[in-house]
Amino acid sequence: MSKARLYSGMQPSADSLQIGNYIGALLQWRDLQESYDAFFSVVDLHALTVPNDPAELREKTRRTAAQYIAAGIEPSKSTLYVQSHVSAHAELAWILSTITGFGEAGRMTQFKDKSSRYGAEASSVGLFTYPVLMAADILLYQTAIVPVGDDQKQHVELTRDLAERFNARYGDTFRVPVPMIQQDTARIYDLQNPTSKMSKSAESTAGVLWLLDDPSASAKKIMRAVTDSEGVVRYDRNAKPGVSNLLVIYAALTGRQIPSLEDEYAGRGYGDFKKGLAEVVVNEFGPVRERALELLADPAELDRVLAKNADHAASVAEETLSTVYDRIGL
Ligand code: ADP
Ligand code: NA
Repeated sequence: MSKARLYSGMQPSADSLQIGNYIGALLQWRDLQESYDAFFSVVDLHALTVPNDPAELREKTRRTAAQYIAAGIEPSKSTLYVQSHVSAHAELAWILSTITGFGEAGRMTQFKDKSSRYGAEASSVGLFTYPVLMAADILLYQTAIVPVGDDQKQHVELTRDLAERFNARYGDTFRVPVPMIQQDTARIYDLQNPTSKMSKSAESTAGVLWLLDDPSASAKKIMRAVTDSEGVVRYDRNAKPGVSNLLVIYAALTGRQIPSLEDEYAGRGYGDFKKGLAEVVVNEFGPVRERALELLADPAELDRVLAKNADHAASVAEETLSTVYDRIGL
């Protein structure tokens, strides 16, 4: 039996990914690529929904791809490509936008959040139609499973609605995908502000742990992480968000259970605990960082790998797109 298809992607919105992208996405993708026919893209078209410097965008896209590979996504096993290299994404997005209700798109909470942050005048139509492009990304590949964070669940619901609507109007064309929502314990919070999600596009980066940071800089950030005055290493998301966040990171990177970490650090202070975690982080990210920098030192080879993978993605996507054109009379 052939493997079920899986699709996921990330925006190239910074020079480095952060540890939340690694724990919440890349670690899972690495495992999932074994049992699924996985497509992982760097969604540079999505990144255009906020202002970008062209040279910087191109560099961030390359760096994001290099970090996928360094974290263990194998371009010989998965299809790892850059979204804009496959023109079918933009083409299908247009078609899908014509069957999306204006009110339906307006109900997307991420658009409401982002547009209120930038202001209505500064928000583009692209930001508004972003979820339609995401639906195209997923549906082009006849995707079965979409691993996403909580915040993207509504967009996958829209994708399902659009697939069902198109199928009902024009005949069975798209597979209706199912979201795979990451567990709460895979969610990482900002080290300085442990009730808000760590993000590579955060305004303040003091509490963000970067994959490509110098190991000593990461260790320093962990030593300075916000905790509380209780002095006990104990998991309690509400009362102790800082310590709980550090425990989650520790457990995710070592494969250990939180209670076993609580036992290990019972009767010891936060200093010891943070030192232990800093060591884990440095050991885990040292090799990932080195591998990413190695890949980035040979951009021609990296571009070749990405082009080859984009060719494969395009061949799959074109098949869906030509059926779509045929069904709707183009
Ligand atoms: P960011 O907020 O860093 O720009 P994205 O929105 O591009 O992240 O998300 C890319 C992937 O990383 C998604 O699968 C998302 O669920 C995951 N992710 C992002 N931030 C976190 C986090 N703080 N904890 C866990 N997973 C995260
Ligand atoms: Na591949």
